[in-house]
Amino acid sequence: MKKSTIIIASLWALAAVQLPGQRPASIIRMDTNRVIGEVHPYVFGNFAEHLGRCIYGGIFEENSPLAGPDGFRKDVLEAVKPLGVSVLRWPGGNFASGYSWKDGIGPRDLRPARPDHAWGALETNRFGTDEFLQYCERIGAQPYLCINAGLGSVDEARQWVEYTNETRPTYWALQRKKNGREKPWNVKIWGLGNEIDGPWQLGHKNAEDYAKFALEAAKAMRRQDGTIQLIASGSSNFRAGADWIAWNRTVLDRLKDEIDYISLHTYIGNRDNDFEKYLGASAQDLEYRLQVVEGQIKAAQNAQRVPRPIYIAFDEWNTWYRARAGTTEAEIASTGLEERYNFEDSLATGMFFNAFLRHANSVKMANLAQLVNVIAPIFTNKQGLFRQTIYWPLAEYAKQRGNMSLDVQVSAPTYRVVQRAPISYLDVSATHAPNSSMIFLNVLNRSEKMDLVTRIDNITGRIGAAASVWEMNHPDLKTTNDFGKETIRPATRTASLKIVNNGFDYTFPKHSLTILGLKLQ
Ligand code: AHR
Repeated sequence: MKKSTIIIASLWALAAVQLPGQRPASIIRMDTNRVIGEVHPYVFGNFAEHLGRCIYGGIFEENSPLAGPDGFRKDVLEAVKPLGVSVLRWPGGNFASGYSWKDGIGPRDLRPARPDHAWGALETNRFGTDEFLQYCERIGAQPYLCINAGLGSVDEARQWVEYTNETRPTYWALQRKKNGREKPWNVKIWGLGNEIDGPWQLGHKNAEDYAKFALEAAKAMRRQDGTIQLIASGSSNFRAGADWIAWNRTVLDRLKDEIDYISLHTYIGNRDNDFEKYLGASAQDLEYRLQVVEGQIKAAQNAQRVPRPIYIAFDEWNTWYRARAGTTEAEIASTGLEERYNFEDSLATGMFFNAFLRHANSVKMANLAQLVNVIAPIFTNKQGLFRQTIYWPLAEYAKQRGNMSLDVQVSAPTYRVVQRAPISYLDVSATHAPNSSMIFLNVLNRSEKMDLVTRIDNITGRIGAAASVWEMNHPDLKTTNDFGKETIRPATRTASLKIVNNGFDYTFPKHSLTILGLKLQ
């Protein structure tokens, strides 16, 4: 903890120690009648880009003894499955803005190699549309294709929909059949470009020009298939002073009658080596941005021709700051973006999910960036893989898909980071699964020093004494996993709670992420 947070935190440290006969320092109140919205399964989405070793050497490694005849790494497939990936975004990312999908179909040996100017690489095109869509079928994920709204054209995007979804014997449907896929792939989710607001993007545009392109692409793609869902390229980063609010306003205003989602991206990092700032300031920023964009969506909806929902697709999020050296995309790519995650980063994953669940009425999709090797929970070499620290919360939160997110009340000690508003040490979300009568209480204690004794009150229904406990914790915030050494992993146990007045006391250890599974009787 830095000096700025020390004084206030240490005052609270006194308050947080429960003395005999005293009330716990924190209170959480849950009520299954206070529903925010359904936790959409797509909140547990992921992203695979042609970048570094995500596709080649990650998902797909032809001639590897670890790959099947289709080239898919079998060990990676097995590690992906417990993540419950509901929707997989592809082919980028920045890569999408220079990608020609037609290069990636047909017999592999005849496909052209092309320069990838997004990341300064060589693209062999041996993994293309059909391989990606097969992969989605293998892992049970909905495919999400991101069109080239940078250097690409409207008609290329429309033809891609024709290739994947057309049932009649048109030119591109026949090409698909010739390439081995008789029935349509029926791809429902399409992104109208990636980070077009960023000057680093190939074919970067201002908001007006992007909106004009996206509107025409939406029209042409929808005429090809009226059942598809479209995601507009929203703000790619939230730098203070950057005009991300203006970008979103224009995009929403111009595209409000066409789109189903607006995409947002954010990457966080512990650049100041200050744990409580990392998990607190990032959470505050995320909360603020979600609230702003929710307001912007509402404002745009006021002028819709026919009322229709627009949701947030947070289709790139993660911790990413170490494997990011350099200023040009090629310099950044030289790291392979092979971020090694430590224990504290696994807590950041919980912080993200808690925010998404608290906004379950608006965040209807979220895609971790990315799936394998590149800022990823799974890390391979030629001989095998290991699961990074962030793997475990991803797999555990995904079990809450389809639950109802609850508006929990939280009262907990707070701290400040410099001049920011007070930040609660406890970061909480909860979901209810009516069919199994279970409540899942997700609690991040972002105090570096204090265990927090907490009174948990339940309002509707009687809470049972038996609970499941899933906990991420480790004495060293910086410990990482490695090949043959998955030190950071969750502990699980069952607990017998002492229920008094339909509630109980629970101590959330310092720097921990806990998911309590509670049964309503
Ligand atoms: O996920 C890595 C990169 O981050 C993506 O290609 C881009 O969209 C973002 O800037």
